[in-house]
Order: sequence, then C-alpha cells, then structure tokens
Amino acid sequence: MSMDGSFFSKYSTGSIMAHGSNDLAAVQMACGMGLVAAIDALVMSVAAIAFMLDIHVGLTLIALLPMPILILATRFLSQNLHHRFDRVQEQFSGMTEFARSSISSIRLLKAYTLEKSQSRRFGRLGKEYVDSSIRVAIIQGLLFPIATLVGSSAMLIVLYFGGRLVILETISMGDFVAFITYLYMLIWPMMAVGWVVNLSQRGVTSLRRIFLLLSEKSQLPPGSTDAQPTSSLFELRNLSFTYPQSKRRILDAITLTITPGILGITGPTGCGKTTLCQVLARIYPVANGTLFLGKTDVNNISPESVQELVSYVSQEALLFSSSLHENIAFGNADASMDLIIKAAKAAAIHDEIIVFPEGYESMIGEKGVTLSGGQRGRVALARAILCDRPIIIIDDGLAAVDTGTEQEIIENLTPWFKGKSVIWVSQRIKQLAGTDRVLVLEDGKVSGLGPYDELVQHNAFLGEIRRRQRLQGEKMNA
Ligand SMILES: Nc1ncnc2c1ncn2[C@@H]1O[C@H](COP(=O)(O)OP(=O)(O)OP(=O)(O)O)[C@@H](O)[C@H]1O
Ligand SMILES: [Mg+2]
Repeated sequence: MSMDGSFFSKYSTGSIMAHGSNDLAAVQMACGMGLVAAIDALVMSVAAIAFMLDIHVGLTLIALLPMPILILATRFLSQNLHHRFDRVQEQFSGMTEFARSSISSIRLLKAYTLEKSQSRRFGRLGKEYVDSSIRVAIIQGLLFPIATLVGSSAMLIVLYFGGRLVILETISMGDFVAFITYLYMLIWPMMAVGWVVNLSQRGVTSLRRIFLLLSEKSQLPPGSTDAQPTSSLFELRNLSFTYPQSKRRILDAITLTITPGILGITGPTGCGKTTLCQVLARIYPVANGTLFLGKTDVNNISPESVQELVSYVSQEALLFSSSLHENIAFGNADASMDLIIKAAKAAAIHDEIIVFPEGYESMIGEKGVTLSGGQRGRVALARAILCDRPIIIIDDGLAAVDTGTEQEIIENLTPWFKGKSVIWVSQRIKQLAGTDRVLVLEDGKVSGLGPYDELVQHNAFLGEIRRRQRLQGEKMNA
C-alpha cells in the first residue's frame, strides 16, 4: 500500500499474491511442522544415544560410524535444494500472474478466440512447474534412501559387533536387545532429517523472497511531517522524468506554473500527458528541486499531504467490485447521499444510475464490467467531484462520451471548477477551447503554452487537430 508506481511495474499482481499465499505457507510449514519434527528428532536421538552409551560406549561409537555420510549427503543436497526451490517458487508466481491476467481479461481473450492458445500456454507453464518440482523431488527422493541406508548399515554393524560382544559375554542378551531397540529409535530421526531439511530449505527460500519484497522502499521520499503545503499551486521547474526501469526520458525540462483555472493539456499519443498527471498526483518520484507545491519542494512534503490536495481521474476509469454508491464515495466515505447524488448529477450519470433496479446500491461487478465505458468514466468523474479537492487532474475523462453529454458535463463542472486548479487532458478541440490556457506536449517537451485562441494560430499540432475536427464536424453535418 505504501509503494509508489514503479514498484508495481517491477512486481506483478500475481507475484505479490504468490508471496502472500505460497511463500507464506512455506514459511508457516517450516516454523510449524518443520520445527516440531526437528525438536522431536533431536530429543529422540539425544535420548537414544545417551541410553546406547550407557549400555556400551565402544559399540555406540561403532554404530554411529556411518552417521557422517548422512550429514555430508544432507549438506550437499540441501545446497542444491535451495536454488531449485527458488525456481519452483518463481514459477508458481509466474503461473499465478498468468492465471490472474487471463481471467481478468477473459472478455478480450474470447473476442480474439484465444481461450485454447491461452490454455495451452498455461499448460506449458504448468509443465515447467511440474518439471522443476520433480527436480526438487529427485533430491528429496535421494535423501530418504540415504538415511535408510545409513540406518541399516548401523544396524548391520551392531548385529555383527554386538553379537560378538554377547557371545564373549561382555554385554548381556537383554542389553543387546535394548541396544537394538534404541538404534531403531535413532532411525526415525535420521529419516526425519530429510523431511526437516526439505521443509526448512523451502521455508528459508520463501522467507528470503518475502524479505526481498519487504526490503523494497518506496521511491517517494517520506517528507517531513511538519512541512505542510502552504498553498495548492504546483510549480514545475525544469522537470524531467524517466520511468525507473527504462532509459528514455518521457518528460523533458518542463517549466510551468499551475494556477487556479483550467489548464488544458494536449499532444500526440504517447507524448507524456498521463505521465505528467501521475507525476503531479505523486504516483511516481521526481528529482529534488523540480516540482514545488506552494514554494515547498514536494520531496519535503509527505506524499499523502500532496495526494490529499489532488483529485485524480485516471485515463482508464478504475472501479471496484462494489456498489455504485461505494465507488462514488470512495475517497469520501462519510459523504451524505445528497452530496453523492449532486456529484453524480454533475458528472451526468445520475439519470442512468436511477434506471438500474437497485439504483445507487447496484453492484457493478469486477472492474465495473456491468457498466459501459462512458458510464465508468463518469462514475470516476463523480468520485473526483465528491472529493472536492483544490487540485483536479482529469486525464481524458470525457473521451468516451457523446458530444451532447460532453457539453452537459462541461456546463455542470464550470461552477465547481471556480477557484480550483484544474488540469484537463483532452484531444478534443471543443474541450480545449473552454480552458484558460493550453499546454501542448510533444515528445515530452512543451511545444506551446498559452491561451487557446492565441496558441491555435501558431501551434502546428493544435492547428492541425482543429482543422481535422472541424472537417469531421462538417462531414457529419453534411
Ligand atoms: N510504466 C511505464 N514504464 C515505462 N514507460 C512507460 C510507462 N508508462 C508509459 N510509458 C511510456 O511513456 C510514454 C508516455 O506515455 P503516456 O502514457 O504518458 O502518454 P500519453 O501522452 O498519456 O498518451 P495517450 O494520449 O495515448 O494517453 C510512452 O512512450 C510510454 O510507452
Ligand atoms: Mg494518456
């Protein structure tokens, strides 16, 4: 929960889930059954050896002669086990992620009739998992017979030398039988060694993986708790950004002050608009001295304090499998029903919600599958409106609505936007024309910034999209 966006590019959901299920279970087994078996084996063997020593020291030492073979074999094999377990757990993570992503995109798979090929790919992953598990089983399989061999050799030695001692009347027949009984007691601990080594190696491997995950630190500096943002004005000074796992600079030396009013952002696809929104929403880290909030470097402010000032509507509307009510009230759980309805009306979604049989209490299925794309976007917009924070970032929020609804929403939002800093990403000329300033991003660089009417005259990109969208409009009217 405390990690920044780059952590989630590095670890897939499936892998994080596998850490929480499979790896934790392995640690649990090692600490539970593994520890019980280890203590049991230790107590039994110490007691058995003590009784054997009491009967005859020499015979005991001879009986224990094959023991080093078991110790050496266990050491050698357990070194091998570690790598193999690592591989098995890694593959389990891969399978979990594959299953998760296949099931969550099942509609897409069906549209491309990929069910069979996806099942085959899962089959291949499963086969690799089985193969690595078998490589682990081979080692485990070796430990068991080695333990039995060592135990049986000890028995053979005792029968031979102990038998002679009985014949020579050095020990009594009763002692000899008792000695053999104690040796039998030793055989179980020897066999348990294999099992304990297996469980503990599996546990240690998994624990290492868990620690590795836990040692990841958020790239966002925690900031000092007393440094509170003094105002909600963002200032970007020569801000550049590169995604942590890549080399390409996505935002290049952007200098900009975000003041109250609507700042439209546009630019060709892939130019970095969403990246800029996410950097401002403090999902990704920035270098010191490049992003300021009310004159304070954001790196000195806790990410939460910044996030509390920002309402962010992401490009893909992200919804949860709960009711519409809960989805809208997501950032503001105590909001009254009146406020929720008001927000839904502003986002022009209220009329569609009340048509659902259960209205605001309708469940919307995983990721909002029971809603249309445009409805999902407007639910996400209503959520941001309800949060009512001073900075609003809307990443192409009206891309999936028709022009009539678009007009209605813009009119509804205008009074609500008063006094707030609004960052409005859009590719539509109609939406950009209604903003106070437009920023054109091209290849991560600012290629134009200014009032729409001025910019449209001399910015090539903006001029071009206006020409195209006008042509389109004329064609539709014709
Ligand atoms: N998590 C990530 N890791 C590495 N590179 C990324 C990541 N997300 C996006 N990019 C790259 O950053 C660039 C800018 O992406 P971004 O999503 O900001 O574009 P955009 O302007 O919002 O495009 P669109 O108009 O299509 O929404 C793209 O080239 C993309 O490949
Ligand atoms: Mg985008």
